[in-house]
Formats: sequence, structure tokens, C-alpha cells
Amino acid sequence: MSGTLFVRCHEPPQLSGEITPPPDKSITIRALILGMLAEGETRILNPLNALDTRSALLGVQQLGAMVYEREREWVVMGGELRTPPGPVDLGNSGTALRLLTGALAGRPGVDAVLTGDESLRSRPMARVVEPLGAMGAEIEYLEKEGCAPLRVRGRQLKGMRYELPVPSAQVKSAVLFAGLGAQGATEVVERLVSRDHTELMLPRFGVPLEIVQGGGRRLISLTPPEQLAAAEVQVPGDISSAFLWVVLGLLLGEKLALHGVGLNTTRLGALRVLSKCSGGLTVHIEGRLGAEGFGRIHTRKSLLAPFDVPPAEIPAMVDELPLLALAATQARGESAVRGAGELRVKESDRLARTAEILRAFGADVEVHGESMRIAGPQQLHTAEVESGGDHRMAMLGLACALVAGEGESRVRDFTGAEVSYPGLLADARKAVEGAEFGLE
Ligand code: S3P
Repeated sequence: MSGTLFVRCHEPPQLSGEITPPPDKSITIRALILGMLAEGETRILNPLNALDTRSALLGVQQLGAMVYEREREWVVMGGELRTPPGPVDLGNSGTALRLLTGALAGRPGVDAVLTGDESLRSRPMARVVEPLGAMGAEIEYLEKEGCAPLRVRGRQLKGMRYELPVPSAQVKSAVLFAGLGAQGATEVVERLVSRDHTELMLPRFGVPLEIVQGGGRRLISLTPPEQLAAAEVQVPGDISSAFLWVVLGLLLGEKLALHGVGLNTTRLGALRVLSKCSGGLTVHIEGRLGAEGFGRIHTRKSLLAPFDVPPAEIPAMVDELPLLALAATQARGESAVRGAGELRVKESDRLARTAEILRAFGADVEVHGESMRIAGPQQLHTAEVESGGDHRMAMLGLACALVAGEGESRVRDFTGAEVSYPGLLADARKAVEGAEFGLE
């Protein structure tokens, strides 16, 4: 997928049918890294085969794991790390770079340079380098202070207690992964709960964890085992990709069903908001795939009430906020999102770019510091916007084009969508009636 996306709507588009969203990115990357550390054969069933996860796959291969790709299955043979022959390029994947930094920091004998594309090289890395340094890690910024490329020289680390200053699952996971190569227990304290895929997956690889929640804090305590045991990881659909269809289903849909969606409660903040302010959303929990809950989501077109998202709820919807803001443009009143500063340090400044894209389509949106105010309901019109190479902004552009309706809209630099959602246009063609999609 490359170039500029055009969306031509001949009539107000309609959505119906069934979609199985792509597998989860966060879970696939964690399984690859733990598979690299574990001795033996780790099987990842239904992995996400997209740009970010392929960057992680190539990364773990360079670091000594063997990965065999089968039909909808990746097999990782891990246990023996090595110094890679050259820099490990993790492309656009902040998750892969930060989690690998943690995983390698406590592995004496490994000496690796981790880098990425221009966007990744401008994102903050001190948030992982500082706590890892306090555990005894030797990590050097090779170009710009606080940014990748990083040189990680594995050392015997010491466990510590770390209170997360930012609610970030990547920082939490990097510290826990470093704890696997540390002497003594490593403890992480979080005040706002971020996605807990790492905590759910580690016990499957034979790593004992203790989790204590109360008094407004959650304490995760990890005791490193002698050796990680290989595991089988089943990957459900990615709620962040599914959320595109949830929003479009509520705004435009007849009846839409989303199958096999990961329903990890730490990722459902945006779904909870929309459930409260519309009558068109039903979630059916079907069971567990390994440690992770999954199920079906049904949507039908419905009116939306405005909402106010407080800072404490941001971590549970951090990747869905741009699409939630689009939903707010159609709500019957003014909505607000507060304390969303973390959006400024994603693949792009998503607070600024979301507002820019929504405004280009005719929405009335204001951003002040870490907050966003969105007026509704607003009739959107066609526009030409720029994704800035950010996959979630490419998705937002496509969604806005459909909500805008009749006429032609364009999203420049649409390439990014492949980072997390391969097959996005195929799914759009399948579910949307009355619109034509193409790349120029
Ligand atoms: C992720 C955590 C989130 C999220 C990112 C994936 C993860 O980032 O935005 O897309 O897999 O741990 P932060 O930890 O920086 O909030």
C-alpha cells in the first residue's frame, strides 16, 4: 500500500456485514520477544503479519532466534541470544524497540544497536533508559540524547521497585523484561492501569508474577526464573483496529458484526465510553484465547450523546482516542478529552494531528495543552489530509472520508496503515457500500 488514498462516495455510504479485524499487534510483539528469550519452540497462533510485527520478527532473528513462518502460525526457536552483525532496525515500532531494550539489558554478552525509522528515532527513549540504568543497564544514546539509536550492552542487572511516572505499558514491560535478567525481584507500581498483556503472558512462559491491587495502585512483582519455558500464544483480533469499524458502524452502519476481537479489559476504555453514550453497541464475550479474553462486537447506527473523558481513563483507550474524537463530532453536544498528553509522543503528535485532520473535514475542535474539546453534531465535508506517516492517522483519514459522505476525499501518505492493519482497504471494500477506494 502506498501513496495517496482516494475515497469516492457516490451516495452516503452504508456499512454492513462481518469483519474479522487483524490480529493484535501488542500481543504478537510480546510473544516474539519472549519466544526469543525462552528455550525451545514457542508457537504464535494467528500472529499479526504487518509492518510493525515484521520489524519485530526480523529483530529477534538478528538477535539469535530462529523463526519459521507457517500458515497463520509463527514458530520461534529461542534461548540463545547473540550480538547481531549490524544495527537492528525496528522500523516504526516503538513497542518492539522499547521492549527489546529491556529484554537485552540484562543479557551479558549481547551488544546490540537498536534503531528505527525517522519517526521512531524522534520518540522519547529516556522513559525506558532511566529505569533500566537504575537496574545497572549499560545503554548509550548514539546520536541524539534521549533518542534511538541505542546501544545496549547486556549486564547482570539488579532488581528494583519502580514507580511508573507515565502510564505506559511499554515502559512497564521494558522494566519487567529487564527483570528477567536481574538478581532478585523486580517490582513495578502503576497508578493508572495500562494494557496488561505482558502480565498475562509472562506466567505462560514460566515466569511467576504477583499482582496486588488496592489503594489506587497496582504492584506487579516478578521473580526471575532460571530459564523461560517456551509457550503457545494465541492472538485475538486487535481492538484498536476493530475500533475503526465500531465508530463507523455506529455512525453509518446498518448492522455490522466484528468477530474474534480481543476484549482485554485494560484496552476497552473507548468501547465503554461509546456503550454509555449510544444504544447501538453490543459486546459478547465468547471466552479466552490463552490468557486473553475475546468475543464479538455488534454495532448498528445510533445517536450519540456527548462525553467527557477524564485523565484516569486515557490509558485504557490511548490508541483509540483519534477515532473517538471523530465519533464526538457526531454527538449531540460538546465532548471533552482531558489529560491526553501521551498522544503527543506517539508515532506523530496525535493530539495536534487529530485536530488538524478533523478540522480539515469541517469539525470544530480545539486543543489546549493535554485536552481536546470537540463540538457536535457537525456535518463533515470532503477534504484532502496528510497522515504524516502515522498508521492511526491514516485510519482516521479514511474514517473521516466516509463520515463526510458524498464527493471525493484524499489521505496523503496512506502507507502507514500497513503498520498495524494489512488488508484495511480489502475490509473497507467488503463492508462499505456506496464508496470506492483506491491508491494513487
Ligand atoms: C503499546 C502501548 C501503548 C500503545 C502502543 C502499544 C504496547 O504505548 O500506544 O501502540 O504494546 O505496550 P505506551 O506504552 O507508550 O502508552
